Amino acid sequence: MTTTQTFPLKQETDIVVVRQQVRKAAEQARLGLVSQTKIVTAASEIARNALIYGGGGECRIEQQMRDGRTAVCLIISDQGPGIEDLDKAMVDGYTSGNGLGLGLSGARRLVDDFVIRSEPGNGTVVELWKWR
Ligand SMILES: Nc1ncnc2c1ncn2[C@@H]1O[C@H](COP(=O)(O)OP(=O)(O)OP(=O)(O)O)[C@@H](O)[C@H]1O
Ligand SMILES: [Mg+2]
Repeated sequence: MTTTQTFPLKQETDIVVVRQQVRKAAEQARLGLVSQTKIVTAASEIARNALIYGGGGECRIEQQMRDGRTAVCLIISDQGPGIEDLDKAMVDGYTSGNGLGLGLSGARRLVDDFVIRSEPGNGTVVELWKWR
């Protein structure tokens, strides 16, 4: 069984909604409290990037079952300028703006599976997985 919901990321307040909805999905998937907080925090960072750098986008929230295991899967996408050098962007402390440069690298550490696809001119898609 899979459930899917999609939420817009057009303004700052949408990040609050996404945080709440990710928390709810993580509870429903019966993730532990620590895992819930980790995926909410990761979602928040990636959603903020989609808003700031990607000019807005959306967050899809899915509950997935594979081989009898349950996961929450988030797909956060934008159609902004994309990331030219992904390896560089993933390094702790790299920022092209005024951030700390810890959003991408931190989010990767907080989830079980992290997939990022981006090319200049084609936007960015980040998948975040947390398993029960
Ligand atoms: N969705 C995106 N579209 C285009 N560029 C992005 C996107 N997400 C990240 N980047 C690029 O990758 C860099 C690193 O992102 P990261 O989230 O790690 O750091 P930051 O946003 O600069 O700072 P922090 O998240 O710590 O406040 C960004 O500065 C930006 O150049
Ligand atoms: Mg960031």
